[in-house]
Amino acid sequence: MAAEPDALSRRDALAAHAAETSACTRCRLAQGRTQVVYGVGDPDADLMFVGEAPGFHEDKQGYPFVGSAGKLLDRLLEGIGLSRRDVYIANVLKCRPPGNRDPQPDEIEACESHLFRQLELIQPKLVATLGNFATKLLSGKPAGITRVHGRPQEALVGGRSVTLYPIYHPAAALYTPAMLKTLEEDFARIPALLMGPAAAPAPVADAQVIPFPAAAAPAVAAAAPPDEQLGLF
Ligand code: URA
Repeated sequence: MAAEPDALSRRDALAAHAAETSACTRCRLAQGRTQVVYGVGDPDADLMFVGEAPGFHEDKQGYPFVGSAGKLLDRLLEGIGLSRRDVYIANVLKCRPPGNRDPQPDEIEACESHLFRQLELIQPKLVATLGNFATKLLSGKPAGITRVHGRPQEALVGGRSVTLYPIYHPAAALYTPAMLKTLEEDFARIPALLMGPAAAPAPVADAQVIPFPAAAAPAVAAAAPPDEQLGLF
């Protein structure tokens, strides 16, 4: 089995990968962005969140989840005794889609290896996928978030076993009290999941490339406020 890179070299490799990704021109989104929104947080985090794509504020500031969905994410984290500094936060897409429209399959395909590399370097124990796009991409399955939220599932991501924990996207919960309640309940299970057994790296011989289909099925096309990501559930 290949040796696991130590924490220091993983941090360096993540910084190098962020620098490399900042010049990405793999898809049309490079033309309209202010900057690549790579990700933020603790490179050694046990818990990683994967959202959909940067919105207006994220594109301007260069960090994921800094708008109102991000404020809710901060509140939810606080509710379980964590803060942004304890976790890592990234998105399926690293560049803002115009008008915050849904990610297109070819954009997801062009961008997905950036996320897989982040997962490979950070090696989180638990990956909370926020909404449909992250859940479908990382599970490799078509089941939507309404069906699978709150149910941890094992997945092989880049030959490494991780526990995925699909939950509603905070932007969807912002305007729907029932969804917010469900999101809070699902969040409340995170500490126990983090205490569970660490996911073991898969032996190289067994490593399979998870079929990462370009996440299909955009769900609901909601009338979205300009700065937010809706249509995520
Ligand atoms: N929604 C996302 O999915 N990601 C962000 O970074 C902000 C809003």
